[in-house]
Amino acid sequence: MAQSPSKTKKNTAGKVNKIEKSAFGTLPNGSKVDLYTLRNSNGMEVQITNFGGIITNLTAPDKKGKYANVTLACDSLKGYLKGVPYFGALIGRFGNRIAKGKFTLEGKEYTLATNNRPNALHGGRKGFDKVLWTATPIDAAEPQLKLNYTAADGEEGYPGKLDVEVIYTLQKDNSLKIDYKATTDKTTVVNLTNHTYFNLSGDASNDILNHELSLAADKLVPVDATLIPTGELTAVAGTPFDFTKPHKIGERINEANDAQIKYGKGYDHCWVFTDASNKLKNVASVYEATTGRVMEVFTTEPAIQFYSGNFLDGSAIVKGGVPAKFRSGFCLETQHYPDSPNQPNFPTTVLKPNETYRTTTVYKFSVK
Ligand code: GLA
Repeated sequence: MAQSPSKTKKNTAGKVNKIEKSAFGTLPNGSKVDLYTLRNSNGMEVQITNFGGIITNLTAPDKKGKYANVTLACDSLKGYLKGVPYFGALIGRFGNRIAKGKFTLEGKEYTLATNNRPNALHGGRKGFDKVLWTATPIDAAEPQLKLNYTAADGEEGYPGKLDVEVIYTLQKDNSLKIDYKATTDKTTVVNLTNHTYFNLSGDASNDILNHELSLAADKLVPVDATLIPTGELTAVAGTPFDFTKPHKIGERINEANDAQIKYGKGYDHCWVFTDASNKLKNVASVYEATTGRVMEVFTTEPAIQFYSGNFLDGSAIVKGGVPAKFRSGFCLETQHYPDSPNQPNFPTTVLKPNETYRTTTVYKFSVK
C-alpha cells in the first residue's frame, strides 16, 4: 500500500513505520529533495534520496550484531552537490564508457558529451545520478521505494524518450534488491547500474585493500589506456584479475608490470561472468575479516565493473567529515560491457520501442 509521504509517525500497531520520508534539502533551482528511510525487522536501515536515487546510508551488522553504514555517503545534499564521484547513485542512461562519445544506431550517428576525456562516462554531464526522480514509498512487509524518471528524446545526446523505473526493496534477509525497468519510444541504448562504494569495515577512514573478493567470472574485458575495451575477452587465469577464488583486493593491485592494472591504476575493469545466463545468480562475494561482514552480489546482468576507488583522493568528504581517501571504497557495478554500442561482438545494449529493459541486482549482507 502506498503511504502518504508526510506520515513519519507511528502506525496503528505502535511500531515505527518501515518507510519514512524527511526533507533532504533544496536544489539550486528551488526543487525540494526528499530522503526516504527504509527499515527491516532486523534493524537494517537504508536511506535513499530522490536526487539521483542515491543511497545515502546502508547499515549492515558485524559479527557482534552492531549495525553500521558500509557505504561512502555524504551527510547532506550539499555534500553531493559539491560534486562527488557518483557516490551511491543510479547511473544511466548508459553506465560506463562510450568511446569518444560517439555511436551509430540504425544508420544515424549520435554524439555525447565527452565528460571523461576522450570518452563519454555514466550517462553524460547530467546523468541519472544528478536528476530528481519521482519517488513512491511502498510500506510493505519488505519496504520499497519506487523511483521514476523520464529522460527526454535527445537528453544528453541519446535518442528516444526513455521511461525508467527503479525499485529498491529492503528484504527480510538483510539484502537490498534493485529492480530496473525501462521503455523507449525510439531505438536507443541502455545500461543502468548503481554506483555505491562499499567499505565493509564500517569506517570510511580505512582503505578496502584487506577486503577479500571473489568473482564468478573467468573472463575480463581488457581495455586500452583510456579504459575503452579492445574488443576481445581474455581469460583471467594466471593474472591479477583472477578472483574465481577469494583474494584480498590489495594482494595484486600494484602489479605494475601488468598493463591492465597500469591502465586502471588498480582495478577499474569489467569482468564477464562464467554463467552467461540472465538468471539471478551469485556473482560476487566480499569478506571483511575485522568485522566479519560479508556482502554477496546477485544479478541478472552478464558482467560487473569492479572499481577499487583508485581516483578517490580525499577531496570528496563523507559522513562525519571524513575525506574519502585513495581506495577507501570499492564499487561492484552490475552491467553490460562498456562501449557495447560500438562493439558488435558484445551482448547488445540496444532497446527498441516494443521491448522492455529489465534487470535485477541484489546486495546481501551477513557475517561469518
Ligand atoms: C567508474 C569508472 C571509474 C571512475 C569512477 C568514478 O566506475 O569506471 O573509472 O570514473 O566511475 O570516479
